[in-house]
Amino acid sequence: MSAPVLSVRALRTTFATPRGAVAAVDDVSFDLHQGEVLGLVGESGSGKSITLRSVMRLVPPPGRVTGEVIWQGRDLLTLDPPALRRVRGGEIAMIFQEPMTALNPVLPVGLQITENLQAHTGLTAAQRQRRAVELFDLVGIPGAARRLGDYPHQFSGGMRQRVMIAIALASNPRLLLADEPTTALDVTIQDQILKLILDLRRDLGMSVIFVTHDLGVVAATCDRIAVMYAGRLIETGSVAGVFARPAHAYTRGLLGSVPRAGAERAPLLSIEGTPPALADIPPGCAFAPRCALAEPACHAARPALALVGDGHHSACLRAADVLAQGGLLP
Ligand SMILES: Nc1ncnc2c1ncn2[C@@H]1O[C@H](COP(=O)(O)OP(=O)(O)O)[C@@H](O)[C@H]1O
Ligand SMILES: [Mg+2]
Repeated sequence: MSAPVLSVRALRTTFATPRGAVAAVDDVSFDLHQGEVLGLVGESGSGKSITLRSVMRLVPPPGRVTGEVIWQGRDLLTLDPPALRRVRGGEIAMIFQEPMTALNPVLPVGLQITENLQAHTGLTAAQRQRRAVELFDLVGIPGAARRLGDYPHQFSGGMRQRVMIAIALASNPRLLLADEPTTALDVTIQDQILKLILDLRRDLGMSVIFVTHDLGVVAATCDRIAVMYAGRLIETGSVAGVFARPAHAYTRGLLGSVPRAGAERAPLLSIEGTPPALADIPPGCAFAPRCALAEPACHAARPALALVGDGHHSACLRAADVLAQGGLLP
């Protein structure tokens, strides 16, 4: 296999709190190849957004990020600010969970697209204008040409999300970090936007990290899946492999509600209990207190990710028993 375009190594993001530092992202490592779509899933608060923000070095203070984020051979965590600005928004674009964080409230949205195009492409002013209209059409904003002069507050929440997606995709990024990009949109528009992202992957070899709660979307759009729990990756592998043979009790719980791959939209199954607070992560497997299969060893030491199949890793001491429960798909 070719070298990965993105290698994340031992990524750790901590926040100082009155009770001491808490790790929202704890020793996360993964590779992403060209044209690959990685689905990042896990319950709310598991560290998905902070992982994406850490990759882009956009963690809000007092967050502290350590480890390595190797993009095209350069470590983004140590890159000088001018070089980082060229990468951000050009080579790597991010769709944020909350559209308002990404949009500039005092600039017309059209200008926010054309400025991005000016900074990161060689298009002329007329071409930039045409491309902006084209992008608005693509993401389903009615009356595209007319709306370019409007300000973010003049759009509804769903429309703002589409504007943000158009801005992110404007410069044909080589890596798209998409944080629940379609959650506020109706199903038809969701499908349109997913198709747009997959078209860009096919045509430009764009790689994508896709954070979502929708396992149907993961099954239909992602090549690989990474499951996060309490700031750690607990299972990674191909979507086909993990859906057919989950190897972590937590993943199996999440997938328990998915009838068939891609057949319908299926939210994450709710598992009894709640994830630990970051300040109170137990010493062993963080999922052990909620796990029906947990044995004393699970509470004693934190299991490392171990190979359980072809390109398939799980951090579960009971992986063999979870695998023995069999697949969830026909
Ligand atoms: N500024 C902060 N200070 C302290 N904790 C934070 C801060 N920002 C995020 N967190 C914590 O980091 C954890 C991961 O958050 P996040 O990445 O947004 O989760 P997800 O996207 O998976 O829902 C959460 O427990 C959240 O409370
Ligand atoms: Mg989030």
